Amino acid sequence: MASSADSKLEMNVRVDSNTVLFGVIGDPIRHSKSPVMLNRAFREAGVNGIYTAFHITTDKLGDFIAGVRAMGIRGVNVTIPHKLDVMNHLDRIDESARAIGAVNTIVNDNGVLTGFNTDGIGYVRSLKEEAETSLAGKHIVVLGAGGAARGIVYALTKESPASITIANRTEQRAIELASSMREFTNVKGVSNDQLQSVCADADIIINTTSTGMFPNVDESPVDAAWLRPGAVASDIIYNPMKTKFLADAERQGCRIHGGLGMFIYQGAYAFEYWTGQPAPAAAMREAVLDAFR
Ligand code: ATR
Repeated sequence: MASSADSKLEMNVRVDSNTVLFGVIGDPIRHSKSPVMLNRAFREAGVNGIYTAFHITTDKLGDFIAGVRAMGIRGVNVTIPHKLDVMNHLDRIDESARAIGAVNTIVNDNGVLTGFNTDGIGYVRSLKEEAETSLAGKHIVVLGAGGAARGIVYALTKESPASITIANRTEQRAIELASSMREFTNVKGVSNDQLQSVCADADIIINTTSTGMFPNVDESPVDAAWLRPGAVASDIIYNPMKTKFLADAERQGCRIHGGLGMFIYQGAYAFEYWTGQPAPAAAMREAVLDAFR
């Protein structure tokens, strides 16, 4: 049986000679919830657009971008494994994407392709909408120092926190990430050996590692007993929606923030860059939740 979101989509969609094309590329890509989320956003906002998923292997990336230019595809989201390589095919790279070293959103302005990164700012918008209105003056601990951490730390530096401490299994990666961001604010890198002491002082603890993601749902990146009751525990994982880290932190008296919002708001920013309109975030969330059911 069609869900309410499906029937709403069917009622409102009208593909005609003015319909504008959008899509997401990746390898693999058939698991992506971006088409469901963005098509719902277009219908909700009255945009005459269609968004689909393209399975693009690495050897076809250049051909795909040539196709974007030829067909006038207005917007593209980029996921694994193309976020770095795609930069070589674009005309301009936005400052944030350059600092992060990865692109997840392309805007096509009459053949001029610009790469943006909305992952980190999407995460921060979700954190502020759903858990902590202002990050100014906060002591923030980021668990992990990979690609996801880089985008998030970059976006956090724009929010005037008191400090950002990156804790990682491989200490050197944490130190390198911190030093690449240090021009912005008070950022340092430590090894996981120091987690207990850095968590004791933290207002917000963010897991950017894959620890606790399905199928390893019994793992947690940190002992929740080290967290301060009242602090915010945040996880970028959304499968499961409530990780062991979040469940333990909740029992410890922390406020918890799950990873679905990061996905919604990275898409919301993409929608806004492409259309110039505010994204219908509530409808986008509803569409994604429906797709998971
Ligand atoms: P992503 O782009 O998703 O961030 P990544 O660049 O591979 O992926 O980074 C994964 C992060 O999770 C790293 O910080 C990694 O720690 P290392 O730098 O020491 O490899 C961290 N990570 C992954 N599995 C982990 C585990 N079981 N325990 C602790 N940290 C882990």
